[in-house]
Amino acid sequence: MKHITCIEDLRQLARRKVPRAFFDYADSGSYNEETLRANRADLEGIKLRQRVLVDVSARSLATTIVGQKLAAPFALAPIGLCGMQHGNGEILSAQAANEAGIPFTLSTMSICSIEDVAKATGKPFWFQLYVIKDRGFSKDILSRAVAAKCNALVLTVDLQVLGQRHRDIKNGMTVPPEIRLKNIIDVASKPAWAWSILNGKRKTFGNLAGHVQGMENVNQLAKWVGEQFDPALSWKDVEWIKKIWPGKLILKGILDADDAKTAVKLGADAIVVSNHGGRQLDGAPSSISALPAIADAVGADTEVLFDGGIRTGADIMRALALGARACLIGRAYIYGLGAGGKAGVAKAIDILENELSVTMALTGTNRIADIGGHVLVGGAGKKKAARVKSKA
Ligand SMILES: Cc1cc2nc3c(=O)[nH]c(=O)nc-3n(C[C@H](O)[C@H](O)[C@H](O)COP(=O)(O)O)c2cc1C
Repeated sequence: MKHITCIEDLRQLARRKVPRAFFDYADSGSYNEETLRANRADLEGIKLRQRVLVDVSARSLATTIVGQKLAAPFALAPIGLCGMQHGNGEILSAQAANEAGIPFTLSTMSICSIEDVAKATGKPFWFQLYVIKDRGFSKDILSRAVAAKCNALVLTVDLQVLGQRHRDIKNGMTVPPEIRLKNIIDVASKPAWAWSILNGKRKTFGNLAGHVQGMENVNQLAKWVGEQFDPALSWKDVEWIKKIWPGKLILKGILDADDAKTAVKLGADAIVVSNHGGRQLDGAPSSISALPAIADAVGADTEVLFDGGIRTGADIMRALALGARACLIGRAYIYGLGAGGKAGVAKAIDILENELSVTMALTGTNRIADIGGHVLVGGAGKKKAARVKSKA
């Protein structure tokens, strides 16, 4: 990985190593991908303030979120089918996160199960829940997360119905993949990937297999999943989860200040300002443009996390300057996983940490807690910088 110097390098390598259907699944956004593009464009539009001759020899990236100490202000986001980018992808990513001292979040829709990850890592991780129509299943999986000692629950609230990704349909991206000659030829040309998948613990939704009655084969399971997202989901379900989950609760997928206030009222310990990486409501504002108003609305009682478009350490700095306490990293680490398994995830984390550290130095910042609007051009003197004007 010597010649890999940035997340885009990992992306290009993943594109060559991972079959097209799975690479596109990770890379794409919903519909016209307007929101996907806005996430990046708006971050890049925020200019950092260069400061000189500040002693930055004692910089630290360490911080605390939901009562947990982190070596750097970011966590690995929940990624469905993570284990299809590389065999045992969830285990390898969790191990890389543990070694880096940051949290890993396991998706409900993962390939390795909660138990697989707990057994292989022996360390607590965060669990992400989709509340589906079968509330009994949700309750049961939460008990499993408690038994596995998951130390925070990330409740995703922006997926009552699925946004369509054109590339997934065109690629026959289902679990297992639709058997098409094109896909077979593609997989045959990616032997390292195929080998890792064949040797992986599982090839289907690990959290569901064996836990949904009568759904033993992969096709039945995939169909069941498709039918289980619940358009009737409401704030009442959040109240219910709050009652039955004993630990920290993080609400993910908030993009509106009014929703953020409701989340606070219901006792969320943290929220994630997120548009699901541009994979749900296309035409929604970029996450970064929504962040300042939400951070203002929430106040000090609830921690504000952020995701959407983070590809550099400078992006993390921008989000922190606009009111986030920490970020979640989605594709940035998934590209690493596809590019090189555990070493690739570790590389992605390392790149972001180094970039953030240098960005801190060149903006005259020593501690994460010192990052504020003053590190942005035009943001000086403000608690949080002014709203980002969306460029998209
Ligand atoms: C391939 C892929 C799968 C995802 N699966 C989930 C999921 O299962 N649960 C969830 O809450 N979010 C999921 N997300 C959204 C991410 O957790 C995160 O919000 C998003 O990736 C952040 O944007 P970024 O990829 O630009 O960093 C997924 C994102 C991607 C790219």
